[in-house]
Amino acid sequence: MKNELNKVKRKALEELTSIAEPLELELWRKRYLGRKGLLTLLFKRLAEVPKGEKPTIGKLANKVKEDLTREFQTVANSLAARKAEEEKVLDITLPGRRPPRGHLHPITRTNGEICAIFSRLGFGVVEGPEVELDYYNFEALNMPKDHPARDMQDTFYVSDNVVLRTHTSPMQIRVMERQSTPVSIVAPGKVYRPDSDISHTPMFHQIEGLLVDKGVSFGDLKGTLTTFVHLMFGRDTKLRFRPGFFPFTEPSAEVDIQCVICKGEGCRTCSYTGWLEILGSGMVDPEVFKIVGYDPEEISGFAFGVGVERIAMLKSGLDDIRLFFENDIRFLKQF
Ligand code: PHE
Repeated sequence: MKNELNKVKRKALEELTSIAEPLELELWRKRYLGRKGLLTLLFKRLAEVPKGEKPTIGKLANKVKEDLTREFQTVANSLAARKAEEEKVLDITLPGRRPPRGHLHPITRTNGEICAIFSRLGFGVVEGPEVELDYYNFEALNMPKDHPARDMQDTFYVSDNVVLRTHTSPMQIRVMERQSTPVSIVAPGKVYRPDSDISHTPMFHQIEGLLVDKGVSFGDLKGTLTTFVHLMFGRDTKLRFRPGFFPFTEPSAEVDIQCVICKGEGCRTCSYTGWLEILGSGMVDPEVFKIVGYDPEEISGFAFGVGVERIAMLKSGLDDIRLFFENDIRFLKQF
């Protein structure tokens, strides 16, 4: 009896090692542990064992049953785990995993919105170099080498005659040099100035606008920029034109809009004035037309320069420009 028990155990465990399917395992269980299984039959025969040997044989039989049951569980578990693993890989009914999806940077987006508005108004979009000749950045815009207006916008010099452009206005000259009137363009892009504080970063974005034709008046400038402000900030946004100075426009005007935060009441954002400056503009100076070979007696025009960060900040109520360029994903995700 003892030998038979050990033989059944050995055989059962040996067979178990080659089992790879749940069905085979079930057959194995029936063969050894089932109601008519080999081990179960041996248990039935325990009654025949001589009295003296009963305790040892009984113990052995129980031990064999325990061992086989335990090994059965182990194999059953590992088969189930394998099945789950396979289903994980093969379940074609699960919805696909989406890769994390980003979006355009808030500045890129605002830039696009501004350009879209001017496109609707009939302006073409052009781009030009960020590393610019002194001639286009200053000289041709009526700022000769020793002109005091240069101090307002000192810049990063690459060499005596090459600078990182301090504004997008050089595109006025580049466009007028290569085409005849009428001209109506906007020129978006990066500009550089050695400033850095809560409202300035050394690199920022501007959009230049230029319209030249016969009989363009200050009224056209006002109408165009008013339409822009209404489309960008809403029809009920008040704006005002304040006298300003730029060497390449005459007369010049700074455009303010009613503070979008306090609606003109006065708050920290507008330094308690109720107004926010959003762009510089003016009628193109006759000197500039002469430089590009246009006849100021024949034609006239207006130009403007919008700060993109400024507009984006006002639209979103931000008070620190530097946030745009820290590239903190927690900030960018909010747009
Ligand atoms: N280029 C000017 C600036 O950077 C803005 C401007 C553009 C003013 C066009 C008048 C006309 O501040």
